[in-house]
Amino acid sequence: MSCLNDSLIVRRMQMVTTEGMNKSFLDEYNSPEAVLKYSTKTAGQGVNYLIQHDYARVYDQAIDGCRATSDLPLRVLEFGCGAGMNLVGLVSRLQRRGIPLERAWGADFSVSLIETATKEASTFLAAGIRDKVSFHVARNESLSADLAAGIDRSAEDLRGAFDLILGVNTFRYCHRLGNAADCAADIYRLLRPGGVVVMIDMNDRFPLFRSHLKGTVESHEEAYLPSLEEYVVPFEAAGFEITTKDHFCWIPHSAGRALTGICRTLTPILNATARSRAMRSLVVARKPA
Ligand SMILES: C[S@@+](CC[C@H](N)C(=O)[O-])C[C@H]1O[C@@H](n2cnc3c(N)ncnc32)[C@H](O)[C@@H]1O
Repeated sequence: MSCLNDSLIVRRMQMVTTEGMNKSFLDEYNSPEAVLKYSTKTAGQGVNYLIQHDYARVYDQAIDGCRATSDLPLRVLEFGCGAGMNLVGLVSRLQRRGIPLERAWGADFSVSLIETATKEASTFLAAGIRDKVSFHVARNESLSADLAAGIDRSAEDLRGAFDLILGVNTFRYCHRLGNAADCAADIYRLLRPGGVVVMIDMNDRFPLFRSHLKGTVESHEEAYLPSLEEYVVPFEAAGFEITTKDHFCWIPHSAGRALTGICRTLTPILNATARSRAMRSLVVARKPA
């Protein structure tokens, strides 16, 4: 009996710590600094370049993978989308490539970033496609329930409703909060058979992230970075076939024009000599058709 009580107390303490951690992440991502850091004009040349090149190549392959099993117009969801830079870039690219889009949704738990994403879409997307894109407040840990509530549908309606789901630099938070398996299982339910998920996030083996260098991080849990194998585990456990697991990308998001140019030039050499130390981990996975 006392053992049972002890484990309940430990579980309760863990929940309180996790809630506290999630609240501190939410405060960070609702701040004016976050809006500047994740908006097109102020985010840095690096991330704008990546969305049109290195990340675009990953998205193109994922789109081709989706289209191998369906030629219907695409339904795309980005979770933890911030101010929507990736989703807006991807939708513009679909339009340039002449690939039909049924609808694209962005989701994030930060109200400030969702409001900014909505403005970015109306600024940067061409008429005719911008009405097909919308952004909603939703937490990664309850993605389908929150998204369904945001678009006035039932969570059951959203089962199998997406062809492509992406999450860029957000899945590490699921690991930090201990809900990566639930989040991957939810993504699995949201995708149609043959649908594809793309996860891009920080590589724990890249030695020069600022938080590592400065040693300013207060709690180990709040700054935890999964290894590539750890990023893969929840997707495999959910039933996905892993089609790509790799490291890539040598350009910091915040890089200015000159640093972006230097990093671009060095990328082929760094890929050939130190690929596992690159800045990002990449997992692409497919729901069996
Ligand atoms: C590093 S930013 C990346 C933003 C965007 N994906 C990009 O690449 O520009 C991390 C994002 O994850 C979101 N996020 C973190 N924890 C979340 C959670 N539990 N639920 C939903 N979004 C979350 C943050 O609000 C933030 O927008």
